[in-house]
Amino acid sequence: MSPQTGRHSFLVVANRLPCRRAADAWRASPGGLVATLAPVATRHSAGWIGWSGIADDDTDPGEHAGMTLIPVRLSAAEVTAHYEGFANSTIWPLYHDNVIAPRFSRSWWESHQQVNRRFAEAVAASAAPGARVWVHDYQLQLVPQMVRRLRPDVRIGFFCHIPFPPVGLFAQLPWRAEVLSGLLGADVIGFQRRADVENFTAACIRLLGIDPRAEGRIVEAYPVSVDSAHITALARDAERQDEPERIRADLGDPQTVLLGIDRLDHTKGILERLLAVEELFDTGALDPVTTRLVQIAVPSREAIPAYRDLRAEVERTVGRINGKFAGLGGASIHYLHRDYPFESVVAWYLAADVLLATSLRDGMNLVAKEYVAARRGRGGVLVLSEFAGAADELTEALIVNPHDRDALGAAITRAVRMESGGAHTRIEAMAATVADRSLCAWATRFLDDLESVSPAALTVPPEAEAGAPATPEAEVSGAVPSMSAQR
Ligand code: G6P
Repeated sequence: MSPQTGRHSFLVVANRLPCRRAADAWRASPGGLVATLAPVATRHSAGWIGWSGIADDDTDPGEHAGMTLIPVRLSAAEVTAHYEGFANSTIWPLYHDNVIAPRFSRSWWESHQQVNRRFAEAVAASAAPGARVWVHDYQLQLVPQMVRRLRPDVRIGFFCHIPFPPVGLFAQLPWRAEVLSGLLGADVIGFQRRADVENFTAACIRLLGIDPRAEGRIVEAYPVSVDSAHITALARDAERQDEPERIRADLGDPQTVLLGIDRLDHTKGILERLLAVEELFDTGALDPVTTRLVQIAVPSREAIPAYRDLRAEVERTVGRINGKFAGLGGASIHYLHRDYPFESVVAWYLAADVLLATSLRDGMNLVAKEYVAARRGRGGVLVLSEFAGAADELTEALIVNPHDRDALGAAITRAVRMESGGAHTRIEAMAATVADRSLCAWATRFLDDLESVSPAALTVPPEAEAGAPATPEAEVSGAVPSMSAQR
């Protein structure tokens, strides 16, 4: 093995490591990406390159749950500029149809390039010759091209867990060419939906004059899934321990339990959902005494002012609705601002008659898939946004436009009144879909495609490349730069 290569034949590269140390225990990192990838990485004994979630953290690499965790250090300034700034205040809203206005800042972009380069250097130092490198999500779009330059021998896959916007929106990004050319460093570029594939391809053609498929790239939709068998087993355990009954008893044995489980994020449509339920209480379409809405809002990105504002507005709204409708026996809306272990989430799924997965925009919405997997054989109704990737597959859900308050209210009312035979049939059909297209099949399909390609560079206009090395020699030699910047 050359000193410039590492020992890992399979690397997962994501903004966050799959877990973080909280007091003395390991806690799973938040979000669908980690939930999806951790079992895949464990199965492949992968090296996982990511940030610990803590600024200026000098944790050393270590083994955990069958993976090697390889931390990339982010300074406090980089957390502000790259993570909170470029990734989550520029790209995140832009890729979610400008759900709030994206902000464009040159200093954020500088920091973003620097952090992506550090990730690429960590890959270059950790990958065995000919390794498969699987880069994930919108925070690391420049990494594929940067890795390609450092290690022309490795196969590079990129998967985007969030939507890819229509070219008319994407074109707003001042660094659009650099981002596209960063992605084109990958041999296989995967998205959640066909529409995302079309948007990306159109952007490459219109903004770079490159058709990625004609240039030998595999660009495909790989809709992500959940581990259906694992969820079924957890559901059985929760039932054995009477957890769903206990939850319903704690809620005051209501007739109907509606549930929302989301990161507290603008894309999730939490406010719109609360307002729709309020209107149903106002009009008497739903009874606030016999109905309980449980909204679990997982804390997220709390240092970003827009997220703090959203939290304040959600909490004001919950307070107002409960002030209007709560009786002495309890509140109509139970708002829980915290994270739960997955075992408890499954118990919540079993306790809920209706799941409201009504995001304004969502790459997939794994909560919807988890709910139907947990409810197999038990009935229950899924109300699902047409703007979530899951709507392509879970066609038996009550599909709704969450921006349309009347339609959302009507879908919730219909869900509550659905007779149990109909609900069963729908859940069974959706649970079968989820079981057929398992998480394992998703990963296998992507990795098989990655295995099938020969790693190859693609010529992009030089001005389109983010931080391209100034000296052509460095490009040709593929030399691995010093790792000193990583610590
Ligand atoms: C979504 C994104 C992930 C991200 C997660 C949690 O699922 O697709 O890339 O990790 O949210 O967000 P956070 O900013 O806390 O990592």
